[in-house]
Amino acid sequence: MKKRVLSGVQPSGDLHIGNYLGALKNWVRMQHDCESIFCIVDLHAITVYQRPEELRAKITELAALFVAAGIDPKVSTIVVQSMVHGHAELAWLLTCVTPVGWLQRMTQYKAKSDSQGTAGDGLLQYPVLMAADILIYQAHVVPVGEDQSQHLELTRDIAQRFNSLYGETFVMPETSLPAVGARVMGLDDPEKKMSKSAAGAGHAIALLDPPEVIRRKIMRATTDSLPAVDFENLGAGVRNLLTIFQAFSDWSDDRMQRHFSGMRYGDLKKQAAEMVASSLDPIQRRYRELMSEPGAVDRILAEGCQRVAPIADATVNLVKQRMGLYTRS
Ligand code: TYM
Repeated sequence: MKKRVLSGVQPSGDLHIGNYLGALKNWVRMQHDCESIFCIVDLHAITVYQRPEELRAKITELAALFVAAGIDPKVSTIVVQSMVHGHAELAWLLTCVTPVGWLQRMTQYKAKSDSQGTAGDGLLQYPVLMAADILIYQAHVVPVGEDQSQHLELTRDIAQRFNSLYGETFVMPETSLPAVGARVMGLDDPEKKMSKSAAGAGHAIALLDPPEVIRRKIMRATTDSLPAVDFENLGAGVRNLLTIFQAFSDWSDDRMQRHFSGMRYGDLKKQAAEMVASSLDPIQRRYRELMSEPGAVDRILAEGCQRVAPIADATVNLVKQRMGLYTRS
């Protein structure tokens, strides 16, 4: 039996190369060996205020980017979280078995609630909804970037607690991180994770950035005071540029060392910029093609929802039965 894979991205901000290298590139690789479901998690996005018309447009854009990046909608399922009602329903059922202390300890909750004047309750419940996304499909593997590891541990804790209270119900999902690119750092500040929400024109490379913008951002990336690449003494900025190059090229460590040892930073930046621009070019072309076909993305999303809704319904029904709740079937 093929393993089931589930992962998700929030339709907020612009999808960047950190999202691509940390998550999407791995999804494309895994989709042929596994039964894959990739979710546009709009209910997560609204834990922070989103302008409705912008959110709607971002959902379509993100679905098109999934396909452009190589997710084949005939092989994998692309689904919008809010279209499958069971995600929100299961989240409530799981909330009732989740101690609030587990949620208050989450580092993303602490960081996000500190930066918001008044944090909505949704921000605290965020990881329970994420657990529901995964557990509702009984996913075996969850390919994500490193920043999601803590949420995945919590998902397993919630599943275990449910199973021990109500009997074996959920599959225990594994985290899958890419070998290179699990944590891509900001170009302007390599001590900070590249993020969709961070301000600053030179921080992230968006998947849809034109080549000249990619070049400008990389040429201005923060490095250190050394003149050339020294693998014994890599500063965070240089390490990040090398990681980006390696994750796009799939070069081995050996080949990276042979090629870049002693190279001046200016040349490293030029080569990294060309690698990123030439890797994103086919994605951008496919994206434009898909967006120019009226209704194409909507059809993919409607089909995705139809395909997975029965799996979600079956899990919610099972959970409700286990908990002694009333079910229709
Ligand atoms: P999100 O939308 O922030 O990010 C989507 C994916 O991109 C990865 N990622 C990165 N990887 C490497 N370097 C970076 N700088 C970087 N920034 C982001 C993330 O790890 C993620 O894999 N909570 C999730 C969305 C979610 C989800 C799920 C994921 C909701 N339900 C169920 C998996 C399974 C999030 O906010 O991802």
